[in-house]
Amino acid sequence: MINAIDGPAASGKSTTAKLVGQKMNFLFIDTGAMYRAMALKAYKMGIDYEDSRLIKNIMLATVIDQKIDQDTGDTVTLLDKVDVSHEIRTPEISKGVTAVCEIKEVRDNLVEIQRNLGNKGNVILDGRDIGTVVFPNADLKFFMIADVDIRANRRFKEMQEKGMSSSLEDIKADIIRRDDRDSNRSNSPLKAAEDAILIDTSELTINEQVEFIIEKIKERS
Ligand code: DC
Repeated sequence: MINAIDGPAASGKSTTAKLVGQKMNFLFIDTGAMYRAMALKAYKMGIDYEDSRLIKNIMLATVIDQKIDQDTGDTVTLLDKVDVSHEIRTPEISKGVTAVCEIKEVRDNLVEIQRNLGNKGNVILDGRDIGTVVFPNADLKFFMIADVDIRANRRFKEMQEKGMSSSLEDIKADIIRRDDRDSNRSNSPLKAAEDAILIDTSELTINEQVEFIIEKIKERS
């Protein structure tokens, strides 16, 4: 069974998908983390995020993969075989990923990896284009939204817990900037598939979101 969760930045997709994956024994594929890994590689090599020609070239010599950590149950992102799951969450990478994910060759390459992982069996993927481009025939598609102030607050708390310092204003501005650019790019823009189930998480707890999706999966299977 293939389940897709799309939606704007910080709408709770990854947290929800991870928990649904653990409860249903589905592989959780975090596609945003793959784009972030590519941005991290550019950052480490000192390449301008907007230099699409150079990024296209380094992509050819880059291996991005995901696997489940058997101890924690978390999805681990590997960049050239190295676990970069934490490094890709910094504000610097959030800033740079927007340009990197617009490059057609980067998208083509990562979509192929996502399809190969997804076709292995029971999976839940989160991203921006899963229901529209990566798996247009997914069994279930969800589109998660939430009020931007609520999203910014949630992300702010998450960053604080991880010991990363960013102001609430900066986080909100980054969310608005990314949503705008992700929604307006020509290649695989952020949008809900016509057959997606809309979930507004503004007033929901994580547990309620998870249970809602699990109900739908059970109805479907
Ligand atoms: O979900 P996230 O914030 O980790 O995603 C990081 C960026 O990657 C996001 O700003 C848009 C991009 N992205 C994308 O273009 N397509 C996807 N399927 C997933 C993420």
